[in-house]
Amino acid sequence: MELREWATRILNGDTLAEKLLEPGTLTDNEPGSSVFWNEPVRPKGMHFQKHSRKDKLPSLHELMDQDKRAVCLHRFAGHELLAVEIMAYALLAFPEAPKHFRRGVANTLREEQEHVRLYQRQLNALGVEFGDLPLYKHFWAYTPYLRTPAQYVSVMSLTFEMANLDYAPLYGSTFAKYGDLESAKLMEQILLDEIVHVSFGWNWLKKLKDPETSQWDAWTNALPEMLPPKRAMGTPFQEENRLRAGVSPEWLESFKNTLKK
Ligand SMILES: [Fe+2]
Ligand SMILES: [Fe+2]
Repeated sequence: MELREWATRILNGDTLAEKLLEPGTLTDNEPGSSVFWNEPVRPKGMHFQKHSRKDKLPSLHELMDQDKRAVCLHRFAGHELLAVEIMAYALLAFPEAPKHFRRGVANTLREEQEHVRLYQRQLNALGVEFGDLPLYKHFWAYTPYLRTPAQYVSVMSLTFEMANLDYAPLYGSTFAKYGDLESAKLMEQILLDEIVHVSFGWNWLKKLKDPETSQWDAWTNALPEMLPPKRAMGTPFQEENRLRAGVSPEWLESFKNTLKK
């Protein structure tokens, strides 16, 4: 299947099966012209809902309760589905990007589909179906700022996915603390994959940016105002996971200095 057809079917998908479509052998002979999607089609019951304060995630000490853990896993599954769609968006938005970049986005998209399946399975084990709880637009609010591959990797890989290098281990260790080892194991897998996804963004930003511009400046210049650098982290800040993704010590220094301001 052509990347373009696969991405279009994902964005047009009105069933979860279509969103998680396994494309077989992928080709990229006809990337077509650039298309910027505004919003994806969503399966019945999985439309975006308005996010309000009461929809805050349960706090960590509440996660001894299985239902509260399910609320967290459902939210994370929602993020994975959004990642699937945003990667499909990128395949359609950047037909002229290097083939190697497009191939990497497609590989990452496949892993995000697998993440949806993993969360779905774990939700079922906790007695919840994916789609039972509200889902939010989140990443789709930023697509007006994803107009170049450099903006895409800056926002998606180096901000949202990077923040997961803190959130995944935090939730993993909390689930383990309350005896939910299966959910903890899942978060470990997510962390390992996210490290690779951040690494993809890091390496491509380096290639795509002006050689005179530092990696730090290239990243911060690509971020929209509504997305300050601190959105690339959770608590506690896991420097080690960023180093594992290949992020440079200089970049980490700049990051920590920004947080102090
Ligand atoms: Fe993921
Ligand atoms: Fe990811």
